[in-house]
Amino acid sequence: DWTMESFIELQVAEIRAKVGKGRVLCALSGGVDSSVAAALVHKAVGDQLTCVFVDHGFMRKNEAEQVKKVFTEQFQLNLVFVDARERFMAKLEGVSEPEVKRKTIGNEFIRVFETEAAKLGQVDYLVQGTLYPDIVESGTETAETIKSHHNVGGLPEDMQFKLVEPLRMLFKDEVRELGTELGLSEEIVWRQPFPGPGLAIRILGEVTREKLDILREADAIIIEEIRRSGLYRELWQSFAVLPSIKSVGVMGDGRTYEYPIILRAVTSEDAMTADWARLPYDLLHNISSRIVNEVRGVNRVVYDITSKPPGTIEWE
Ligand code: XMP
Repeated sequence: DWTMESFIELQVAEIRAKVGKGRVLCALSGGVDSSVAAALVHKAVGDQLTCVFVDHGFMRKNEAEQVKKVFTEQFQLNLVFVDARERFMAKLEGVSEPEVKRKTIGNEFIRVFETEAAKLGQVDYLVQGTLYPDIVESGTETAETIKSHHNVGGLPEDMQFKLVEPLRMLFKDEVRELGTELGLSEEIVWRQPFPGPGLAIRILGEVTREKLDILREADAIIIEEIRRSGLYRELWQSFAVLPSIKSVGVMGDGRTYEYPIILRAVTSEDAMTADWARLPYDLLHNISSRIVNEVRGVNRVVYDITSKPPGTIEWE
């Protein structure tokens, strides 16, 4: 029987003993796990920790700014905030095949991260927000190997870090409790999962700035309305998808020819299977009318009523 306070004390002591005077690096993604891991390690070793946040430009609305604010102002930790938006857009030019898109983003992420890590000089430890279920699932994985399912996945084998995995004993709900205890806002602690390649894999086909802006605004409205309805925590994920097709509509006395937005909302326990959420009609109405009224370039909203399997949660 243990309390969260005693868990924190124990972990802080353990991290200090392990790290000694070593330099520690952490890749912040803005998600729950990396945020909580960073806050905990910072509590243990303070300035010995440097976090790197790579803004690839595919984050949700205000997310990158929020990460910057929370970790520099509230936690006052060493944060290297890399604005790599131009680089990622350039790499994605002409790319529309989903797997190529993922690989392109993943490789570029590693390149940017490595460059920043190299600037820091000697780094001894790397923080990973690995949870208990991640370790159990990957079976043979030892603490010294990094598998590609991790968010920093695919780090080259010649990077000689030792891993610090302060969440390895915890389940998701315990990570949330720990984050709250460490002072992270409920907005971060309860954030729905978000894929590493971000909005780029929710734009079907080629990613352009115009499509990104449309998708980000539509997504923000969905999140806002779902939060307002009180259903945000009950849903595994709820988000917008933008296909690269247009359809005809009518507005005022004019014909429109614009993008539709696909609303995806699912319930799930572990993302292996998922069911489409039976959202209330009034909520669907609010989301639809706000998106077509407030997001320029969108004239239609459709709801994805496919469960997983056979559909995946994401569209790419
Ligand atoms: P699918 O679409 O396969 O997604 O049903 C299952 C869960 O995994 C998330 N997902 C990803 N997470 N990097 C990630 O970190 C990725 O490339 C990635 N692709 C999918 C997805 O959001 C869902 O929760």
